[in-house]
Parts: sequence; structure tokens; C-alpha cells
Amino acid sequence: MFVADGIDEPRPIASMPGVVQHTRDSLRRAAANAVASGVGGLMIFGVPRDADKDATGSCGRDPDGILNVALRDLAQDLGDSTVLMADTCLDEFTDHGHCGVLDASGRVDNDATNSQYVGLAVAQAESGAHVVGPSGMMDGQVAAIRDGLDAAGYEHVAILAYAAKFASAFYGPFREAVASSLTGDRRSYQQDSANAREALREISLDIDEGADIVMVKPAMSYLDIVAAAAQMSPVPVAAYQVSGEYAMISAAAAHGWVDGRAAALESLTSIRRAGADVVLTYWAAQAAGWLA
Ligand code: PBG
Repeated sequence: MFVADGIDEPRPIASMPGVVQHTRDSLRRAAANAVASGVGGLMIFGVPRDADKDATGSCGRDPDGILNVALRDLAQDLGDSTVLMADTCLDEFTDHGHCGVLDASGRVDNDATNSQYVGLAVAQAESGAHVVGPSGMMDGQVAAIRDGLDAAGYEHVAILAYAAKFASAFYGPFREAVASSLTGDRRSYQQDSANAREALREISLDIDEGADIVMVKPAMSYLDIVAAAAQMSPVPVAAYQVSGEYAMISAAAAHGWVDGRAAALESLTSIRRAGADVVLTYWAAQAAGWLA
């Protein structure tokens, strides 16, 4: 779910029919409804005002930043009745749109980024997140965040590691959803879609660094990776059915070319069949209703 700063009413995301940028209030209502319909958890993304974006994404660490205030709202409303998860990344908050901070030559600086992630994760834990979800694909991010959370007294906060996250064309609609400032691409830190072996190495590294859940993303074009991860991982495996997957099925359904509900459920079933223990999907609240 997306929550945006500086809007008075929910703003539709054209490429993701049914998904919106929420206001703080509409997020509270939608979250309560989703929990009532039986979802297993909520992943929250923050969309700041453009004017609040800067080179280091400082509004992500600010306790009064949109994501942190929304987490506090939901923690207060929902308590332990759901699993409250936060996207732990800089791209929504930086003026250049990259998932990390840049060095003098404009490259993403891996280690400097990890210290920023620690600040984000601690701010999110303080705001009530049960789980932080580092999605920026820096090397060593899980270890850095685990150390940072432990040092701040958040040993009990879990890490959902985006372990095998591919540089994918299927993220297109998400960039609209978070009003991304990105120009260029993320190929220096996200993975090559042709490389399965590297994905499994990334997953092993994250497990060694203390990940509580490892995630493969996107889901549909990477079910072989989901299946391989399920075979080798001692911790639960999640798969993220991303914005482009949602958009394709929704668009075809809107034309009457596929039965939207049947196609959505078939795609979710295939992700489970491949071995995912946890599925992140924009259909979560609806699917929970369909399956009830
Ligand atoms: C980046 C991030 C991305 C998504 C979630 N967090 C990808 C990106 O822009 O590279 C994509 C999610 C989706 O497409 O549904 N931190």
C-alpha cells in the first residue's frame, strides 16, 4: 500500500487500476479493511512531497516523514492483529530516484548507502514496523541493518530481505505509483535477469547475514528462482508479484480478454506452487476475500 504526503484525497494510479496513493486517513481505513478480510500482513511504501526529496532521502529517516507517521497510525490502529512491514529503501525519498546515495562520480555508493539504510530501518522500527524490507540490493545491507536494529534495542524486529531482485521491466507501473524521480536504470545494483546462479548466491549471502525471510522479485518470470530458493532456504521464501504483473492482468481483464479474477488467482497459485511461503501482491485484500 502507498501513502502520499500532501494530498487531500486518494489518488488513483492509472497503470494499476484499483491501487491508489492513500492519504493518511484513507490508508487507515484501507488497512483496517484489508486486515478484516484476512490478509497476512501489510507492506507500506511512502511517497513524500517532491520538495522534501533530497540527495540522501532524509525524509525517510525523519520521524515526521510520511512513511513513519503512517506506520505509527497503523501500529496504533492495528496493534498485533497484522504484520506491519515497511519498505526500507531510499528511492522514494531521493531527488535523483536511486536506491542509494551517490558518490562524486554519480555512482551509487554501496557502503555509504548501508549506513543510510540503518537510519531508515531504526526510524521504521521506532514507528512500529514489525518487519523492515530492505529492497535496494546493496551488498551487506542485511548485516548492517541487523547490527543497527540490535544496537538500537530492536532485536525483535525482523528483516524481510529482497534477496534476489532483478533489474526488471515489470517495475514500470511502480515508478508511477511512487512518483519516482529516476532517470537511467538500476542495473548496477539490481540483478541480471539471465543469471540464476547469482540469484542463489545473493540469497545465501542474505541468509548468512541474518535475513528472517528471503524474497524473490518479480515473481512470474522468476518462478524457477522461487522454486530453487524454496529448496535451499532454511528461512521462509517470499515472492513479490510486482506492479507490471498486476498491470498486465488488469489491463487484459479490462478489455475482456481474460477473466481477471481467475487469472489473478491462477498467477497467485503458481507462485505458491513454485514454493513461496509468502506472497506480496497488490491483489492481497481482494484475494483474501475471494479465498475466504
Ligand atoms: C525499489 C523498489 C522497486 C519496487 C519496490 N521497491 C523497484 C524499482 O523501482 O526498481 C517495485 C515494486 C513493483 O513493481 O511492484 N526500492
